[in-house]
Amino acid sequence: MARKKIGLIGAGNIGGELANLLAQKQLGDVVLFDIPAKENFAKGKALDLEQASALSGSDCRISGTANWADLAGADVLIITAGIPRKPGQSRDDLVGTNLPIIRDVADNAKKHCPDAFVIVISNPLDAMVYEYKRRVGAPREKVVGMAGVLDSARFSLFLARETGASIKDIRTMVLGGHGDDMVPVLSYCTISGIPITQLLGKDVLDGIVKRTRGGGGEIVGLMGTSAYYAPAISAVAMAEAYLLDQKRVLPCAAYLEGEYGYKDLYMGVPVVIGAGGVEKIVSIELNAEEKAMLAKSADSVQKVVDIVKAKS
Ligand code: APR
Repeated sequence: MARKKIGLIGAGNIGGELANLLAQKQLGDVVLFDIPAKENFAKGKALDLEQASALSGSDCRISGTANWADLAGADVLIITAGIPRKPGQSRDDLVGTNLPIIRDVADNAKKHCPDAFVIVISNPLDAMVYEYKRRVGAPREKVVGMAGVLDSARFSLFLARETGASIKDIRTMVLGGHGDDMVPVLSYCTISGIPITQLLGKDVLDGIVKRTRGGGGEIVGLMGTSAYYAPAISAVAMAEAYLLDQKRVLPCAAYLEGEYGYKDLYMGVPVVIGAGGVEKIVSIELNAEEKAMLAKSADSVQKVVDIVKAKS
């Protein structure tokens, strides 16, 4: 069986780390795509990463290009095209710059690799993945946004450090939009099945929730640009679930058609990812407080989507 082909649209910080992880896991051949002005940069990064395979033992090919024809037949596309945040910016501040970029990417992807399973990472995430799906006219099974896996990973880390428990035993779920009012769903967070609310007091948990919500911004403040290692490995978990038909339950931005009471909106919910793409949206019971937080988050996402729609 031929190796799978994975297209990375955007060969910047996240794109490079995605290529590294995908090749090391031998999930497929990787094509790193960027704009013509960055084509040599993409080619150089690809060559650097391929040379690492002499030591990692990966047989996967990695190439760089600015030619969409090289993406033909891609099985998976992971989109990071766009600009990242600078200190003081919110994700929503990126909409004006990243909207024309996601539209350009959508038009080309529709033409050159219409059958790919697409994972969008570009921010503002929920609005960008909405616009991608709308523009391409793809089924919701094939277009998903990466946010909840990352936000849950951040939440897990902070809980591990607070409790001293192994990160391996921590299970968290962060739903809603990928913004400051995302919803860490405490009632589903456990350490080896033990509800986190039995292990930590309210004040401590409130502090961890706050830090999780600002988790991306904390890194932007420190580095002057947005995170890339944790975002990349989060998207790789989603791509792997699709390519290996793992049927993993992961919090992802999915297109809602009435689930959780929302329609025509992308937002973070638990989904099953397998060979069919987004195979299922899992509806879980939320308490009144969680429902209210989800409604607030949905409202924030809708406001950015409205801006996107107004720029049609
Ligand atoms: N097509 C392809 N690539 C593009 C396009 C386009 N139309 N426009 C811009 N790019 C490329 C840039 O040239 C750059 O190399 O996207 C790349 C983005 O890389 P970085 O600037 O390093 O940004 P990164 O940290 O990877 O984040 C990308 O993901 O998490 C989000 O907020 C983040 O929106 C940002 C995106």
